Amino acid sequence: LRSTANLLPRPIHIGTAVAVNPLMTDTLYARTVASQYSMVTPENDMKFQFIHPQPNIYAFAEADAIVDFARQNKIAVHGHTLAWHEAIPQWVSAMENDPAKITAIFRDHIITVTSHYKGKITEWDVVNEPVRDLNMDENAGLRGSSPWFKAMGEEYIDIAFNLVHNIDPAAKLYINEYGVEELDETDPDNKCNVLYRLVKRLQKRHVPIHGIAFQVHEDMGKGKTPVTPDALARTMKKFTDLGLEVRVSEMDVSLHGTETAPLLSRQAAYYKAILAVCMANPKCSGFSTWGFTDRYSSLGWRDNETGKVNYGNGLPFDERSQPKEAYYALLSQLKGS
Ligand code: G3I
Repeated sequence: LRSTANLLPRPIHIGTAVAVNPLMTDTLYARTVASQYSMVTPENDMKFQFIHPQPNIYAFAEADAIVDFARQNKIAVHGHTLAWHEAIPQWVSAMENDPAKITAIFRDHIITVTSHYKGKITEWDVVNEPVRDLNMDENAGLRGSSPWFKAMGEEYIDIAFNLVHNIDPAAKLYINEYGVEELDETDPDNKCNVLYRLVKRLQKRHVPIHGIAFQVHEDMGKGKTPVTPDALARTMKKFTDLGLEVRVSEMDVSLHGTETAPLLSRQAAYYKAILAVCMANPKCSGFSTWGFTDRYSSLGWRDNETGKVNYGNGLPFDERSQPKEAYYALLSQLKGS
């Protein structure tokens, strides 16, 4: 994939999330990442809980191993993530009633992590999933359950972007969000609409935000219909019209355990169509999947959710890490065929 993408008139990053264990222990996994992908996102190892497990203790070894692997193989790194309401260790949650302390921890965390990786990270998910999930919360707006939001209000977003930009001005700074692929302008509570209004406020305050990352976690089979590629194209355009870049950041297409030939073909066609949407927007910087092989779906979020192995089958390589129809569909899209 990567060599074909590099030959495009406008090369884009073709990426995958990676986990440190298989990267260090499974040679086929490592070889596939190195040969197929031009960008990696650490799936978990840069999250607060893992990289800053105790006060004043930063545990960089795992994330460093990914960054070193990437540099040795000339792969760009997409950093994930600095400000998220999940993966927060207990010692931080324990301070929740002390906004001054939470703010100080937040600043120290961002300064330390981005200084450590300065010059080595092409793009950062500075803020992850800041918009409320209406399936989980009563009201629209920003995610009120975030300890960062509770301590600083919306300003936590400004603080995070400004800090990262001052430390590593070359890095492209993103908000990464799920469930925002389809903008419904008639519904003020539509998650994407909330994000759009947030971005306009940030721009008005001159916050250095460069892009919006669309996760595109989708489901197929068992009556599930993923967002249409046309809807995603329209949404991306709304954001690129604001002068921002966009990217597909975490795509997977769960088949819910049903692996019939027609469903695998539909999955392949859908991957191809979403990649085509990115390639067609001149401001779409890249296309990444959330992992690449069904072999490690036991490490993946789909299995964490259900406790079942092989729940997803949602990636372009199968359980033996061999290319699926989805892989060949992505390749043919890059080749323009
Ligand atoms: O590695 C530890 C292990 O040492 C420990 O014993 C065990 C007990 O809980 O946990 C293991 O860590 C788990 C980790 O995955 C690695 O398997 C965490 O508990 C578990 O919470 C974590 O889940 C991750 C989830 O985010 C929450 O951070 C998933 O792997 C990861 O795929 C998922 O990724 C998110 C993106 O960051 C943001 N967008 C949505 C996406 C899917 O939910």
